[in-house]
Amino acid sequence: GKCPTLSDAAGAGTRSHDWWPCQLRLDVLRQFSPEQNPLGGSFDYTTAFATLDYHALKRDIKALLTQSQPWWPADFGNYGGLFIRAAWHSAGTYRAVDGRGGGGMGQQRFAPLNSWPDNANLDKARRLLWPIKQKYGKSISWADLILLAGNTALEEMGFPVLGFGAGRPDTWQSDESVFWGAETTFVPEGNDIRYNGSTDFAARASHLEEPLAATHMGLIYVNPQGPNGNGDPITSALDIREAFGRMGMNDSETVALIAGGHAFGKTHGASSTALGPPPEAGSLEQQDLGWANSFGTGNADDTITSGLEVIWSKTPTAWSNDYLNSLFGNTWTLTKSPAGALQFEAFNSTVDYPDPFNKTFRHATMLVSDLALREDPIYGAIAQSWVHNFPALTNAFAAAWFKLLHRDMGPISRYLGPDVPKQRFIWQDPLPTVTYSPITAADETALKAQILNAPGVTVSNLVSVAWGSASTFRGGDKRGGANGARIALQPQASWAVNNPKQLQIVLSAVCLAPFPSPSVRRLSATVETNRWIQLNTIKTNFNKKPNNGGKQVSLADLIVLGGNVAIEKAAAAAGYNNVSVPFTVGRVDATQDNTDIASFENLNPQGDGFRNFRNSSGWSLARTEELLVDKAQQLTLTAPEMTVLVGGMRAINANFDGSSNGILTHSPGKLTNDFFTNLLDISTVWTPDSTGELFTGKDRQSHATRWTATRADLVFGSHAELRAIAEVYAEAGGQDQMVADFVAAWAKVMDLDRFDVKK
Ligand code: HEM
Repeated sequence: GKCPTLSDAAGAGTRSHDWWPCQLRLDVLRQFSPEQNPLGGSFDYTTAFATLDYHALKRDIKALLTQSQPWWPADFGNYGGLFIRAAWHSAGTYRAVDGRGGGGMGQQRFAPLNSWPDNANLDKARRLLWPIKQKYGKSISWADLILLAGNTALEEMGFPVLGFGAGRPDTWQSDESVFWGAETTFVPEGNDIRYNGSTDFAARASHLEEPLAATHMGLIYVNPQGPNGNGDPITSALDIREAFGRMGMNDSETVALIAGGHAFGKTHGASSTALGPPPEAGSLEQQDLGWANSFGTGNADDTITSGLEVIWSKTPTAWSNDYLNSLFGNTWTLTKSPAGALQFEAFNSTVDYPDPFNKTFRHATMLVSDLALREDPIYGAIAQSWVHNFPALTNAFAAAWFKLLHRDMGPISRYLGPDVPKQRFIWQDPLPTVTYSPITAADETALKAQILNAPGVTVSNLVSVAWGSASTFRGGDKRGGANGARIALQPQASWAVNNPKQLQIVLSAVCLAPFPSPSVRRLSATVETNRWIQLNTIKTNFNKKPNNGGKQVSLADLIVLGGNVAIEKAAAAAGYNNVSVPFTVGRVDATQDNTDIASFENLNPQGDGFRNFRNSSGWSLARTEELLVDKAQQLTLTAPEMTVLVGGMRAINANFDGSSNGILTHSPGKLTNDFFTNLLDISTVWTPDSTGELFTGKDRQSHATRWTATRADLVFGSHAELRAIAEVYAEAGGQDQMVADFVAAWAKVMDLDRFDVKK
């Protein structure tokens, strides 16, 4: 097999992480580097996609649907159901809470997802698609192809999809940054750490550990047999609501997705015969295929996937309302599949649900989780309203399916291809179209001078606010970032990490922000007071200037400009007079109406070590330094970038609350390398307080207190690899390198969401 007991090569043996499992992992900051990309660091998927004959590709997918292959015969002569499930399982790992998971990186190809029990036999779907992938090469990514195959299958089977946006570049390794849970076995019934071991199915759903969305390790969403296989549709509904809610789906979207998806295909549980290992544990000769089935022919009517044996609709290869007709038109009895799994069967119904291969017919069947759509009062009302309103189901499924596939795509400017619909949705975090000319370099210079002279602003608070604006970006789902200036809107304007009072000073100096609606204002009365009434502001003054040549400046650009000019001033104060922080003009200002408050609340960080913030009442169990690395990973930073940004922001005194923790300098506000030199100074001795979160640094000889610092500070001296980087900035030549690296990393963060201007 793939795992010989003894090996002494290729990284074998007991590793550091085995010896010291609590070691802070920096490998999540080294993922997806150009070195491990076989297409090379300069490969640009947008350019490659532009060479794709998209319509020919779709024709090939459509043809493949009904080209049944002897090695994996198609149910009902059509792979549509299988491809829809593959697309759904690819996208369905998305969690709104941390923006990770989802279909955007083609992760279904890699462990652990390629070997999760819930993804059984999806290796076959990818292998069926391989000739098409091979034919079109780099011009279509696996990430796009898996989703497009499902979307095209729906289209071909008569479902009016809203469209499709391509644009998901492939990754080449497993994304190790995703927390999939702490369990060490798959679907560990009754011992899920994510519920603290609770089996109180009526009460536990909302206690599912954040940021998880799936109810069990190894499942995309919920157990189809009910919580821990209890066979109960009512408590299954509670799990479904929580899991789909954390995917960003409301009740109506959830019902539409399940009723829409299960209108097609079937489930597979021909026998209780045990399957072979999943791809990741398979032997070499299995060539990355898994779940070998020794029952009968091992495929077709003998297929075992979930162990359930259900056919939902009389028309499993055509869009119809038969799923809901069956769900509400039949009387259901709990029974078992041939593999022994709990499912429902309608013994009252006529025997007219088609077998996929042998031209016989069966009773109507349903999963326990399908019955949840009937038995739960809220789901039941929604589903029943669609039984006689097929167009309403069709519209709801079309919208929910489009959202499912594109939820982690980020700004609409990332969508590629001729099928991108014109319609815009609130979950896309829409931004207004620019209708004015951008400011010039001369304007930038003038505006920067005005910002520095504005009342109440300081280098520190300008940097802190610009960071707060840009650093909401999440590489996982490409949400957040400085574009839109949503830091001036709810909910961001009220987040503790943004220090609302400080934010108010900077924003009111910079701009007359859009006046939020009364309902929004009520959310945060204190923040709103006085904030929006300063008329003499830089933005309004600039934009109302006559003879402006149609130019306008956005608050979003001013916030970034403010951070940049503050850094230039801090660098000058440290003796670097010619520092110019790169600036990419062209951001726009979002409106409150186009900002989904509840959904944006997911971007509220549990920790932001860059501003020395930790949400002490938040959900995260992680150590403060882990939250720092997590945030850096979301910002797609490397370990050196993370290090220099923290050191620079401490020197500039940009803590969220203005505290002196980690401000290891006697000249705060200057872009010095003092943070590193003082942190590595052996004459300071550190002791923790009782919480282990705050440390006091005393003079080794006099015992006089020198500094205070947090875990997000001391980790740069304590972690061997971070210390190695910190030494670079503390040693001879380190100050010069620090200024250059800080400016580069800062500019990167400010532009993370500028998909509108980058390739
Ligand atoms: C198949 C469970 C939601 C689309 C299956 C199977 C299970 C399952 C157990 C059988 C796999 C097999 O044995 O081959 C669930 C549960 C859901 C859910 C518990 C949520 C509560 C969805 C959604 C979609 C979907 C939202 C799509 C929008 C499909 C399709 C198949 C399928 C098309 C048939 C696959 C084939 O024909 O090979 N589902 N599912 N499911 N599911 Fe779902």
